[in-house]
Amino acid sequence: MLFRDPRPSSVAAVLARITTFCIDGLDSRPVVVEVDVRAGLPAFVIVGLGDLAVREARERVRGALLNSGFEFPQRRIVVNLAPAHLRKNGSGFDLPIACAVLAASGQVPAASVARRAIHGELSLTGEVRGCRGTLAVAEAARRAGLDGLVVARERAPEAALAGDLEVVGVGSLAELGRILDGAEAPPPVAPGPAGPPRPPGPAPDLADVRGQWSAIRAVEVAAAGGHNLLLRGAPGTGKTMLARRVPGVLPPLDRDEAIEVTRIQSVAGILTGGGLVEERPFRAPHHTISASGLVGGGASPAPGEATLAHHGVLFLDELSEFGRHALDALRQPLEDGHVTIIRGQRAARFPTRFMLVAATNPCPCGYASEPGRCRCGEPDHARHRRRLSGPLMDRIDVVVDVERPSADALAAPPVTDTATVRAHVLAARARQAERLAAAGAACNAHLDGGAVRRVVRLEAAARALLARSYDDGSLSARAHDRVLRVARTIADLAGADAVAEAHVVEALNLRGEPVSPARRAA
Ligand SMILES: Nc1ncnc2c1ncn2[C@@H]1O[C@H](COP(=O)(O)OP(=O)(O)OP(=O)(O)O)[C@@H](O)[C@H]1O
Ligand SMILES: [Mg+2]
Ligand SMILES: [Zn+2]
Repeated sequence: MLFRDPRPSSVAAVLARITTFCIDGLDSRPVVVEVDVRAGLPAFVIVGLGDLAVREARERVRGALLNSGFEFPQRRIVVNLAPAHLRKNGSGFDLPIACAVLAASGQVPAASVARRAIHGELSLTGEVRGCRGTLAVAEAARRAGLDGLVVARERAPEAALAGDLEVVGVGSLAELGRILDGAEAPPPVAPGPAGPPRPPGPAPDLADVRGQWSAIRAVEVAAAGGHNLLLRGAPGTGKTMLARRVPGVLPPLDRDEAIEVTRIQSVAGILTGGGLVEERPFRAPHHTISASGLVGGGASPAPGEATLAHHGVLFLDELSEFGRHALDALRQPLEDGHVTIIRGQRAARFPTRFMLVAATNPCPCGYASEPGRCRCGEPDHARHRRRLSGPLMDRIDVVVDVERPSADALAAPPVTDTATVRAHVLAARARQAERLAAAGAACNAHLDGGAVRRVVRLEAAARALLARSYDDGSLSARAHDRVLRVARTIADLAGADAVAEAHVVEALNLRGEPVSPARRAA
């Protein structure tokens, strides 16, 4: 039997539609907020697979509307978030829902929200708050062909980085109401690094490090070729100090890299300052971190430290203390430059092109490199070596022993500084860019075994030395390619077209033979 509603004239509904976006991995997907206001018992219902924050939007929207001088319609209000199958998370739905209610109840003109996306959180008092992932939202709004985007005022400079979009930054729902009504013009927005200045935090300089010529040279070589680096040495020799100075010697981020880093930090909720991020990231997770903390995970996949370090440095201090499981999880991201996290039907892909810098003691007590001080037995050394072996170590091209600086070295002026080393790195990178453009790599570290043997040209003496080291069994095939890559970088630093014998000698010294008790006795 067909059931027909007996009150056809009293249910005339008003429908409003507003586009917003939902963060998905590092991207965002369009969501249409549909609001239907009709006569009936007063009710306010949100449907469409929202998480807890979305369901709680009801209370914030009601409070914000009433406290901003608007009327909250005493009718039946149904909010639908489409598409229904997409899980919606976050608090960015508050503002579009409130605006859709205003449009559906005739309190703002429907046309004013037709070509603009809206994204923002509301407080009960009607203040508009910024949300994570604003840059990703703005880029998606531009791709979707919308004319404009409304966000919280402090997020407007970030949204404007997407370009080609009228960004409206508002402080409150009442202000937005006046703008949508045409009573007030949208405030102008300057894209880029506007907003509050970032904390100055003077970047640490290599000039703070006394002595350590060979360790600083290893930092220079690693940075020049984009090689992963292991600093090995006794406690208090300055390993952590050196690692923190690595981002400073890397080339500046180009525009695309800076946008990518900004998008990542915004989605992760760690963006400060409101504009473009211009420094290379430096991430130093504690050794108790889990595998998913390191590479990303969670019910709605969130980026891990490997992604937060994208285009920058991932520093693993006390490498031997990290869990085997966590270190194994780093393998794919190190190898591929990205990681894919699969949750149910969805796969999130996170980029992970970072430079790995690790530090470790040479043995459990820490003093294997200092004659007579080490208290460890051979089993301790063997255990330590085992912890530092495996797939991760295979990806570390440069290993350097950081020795205790002498009293003279501590008192002497610094051997170099960040600006000098950085200039060398920049020149070496420029040489690589020329040579590697055809191979599709950005720096020597990204050359795989086949490519490195094809691309790297050796002088006769260099070739003979490498062959001798390989034939006498002191190099594995993998180590052979690693030495070749590092030697190429050393030649780039020297401005040489072909790799010379001296470059191979230095590369051999930077491959990090395991510290053995025999060496201690010597
Ligand atoms: N070469 C150096 N030049 C100047 N200061 C140094 C040097 N080495 C160590 N220091 C001083 O010692 C402190 C400890 O250094 P750092 O934390 O880098 O050592 P570490 O090798 O990481 O030690 P641990 O193995 O205990 O982590 C630094 O903060 C610095 O003040
Ligand atoms: Mg340390
Ligand atoms: Zn020891």
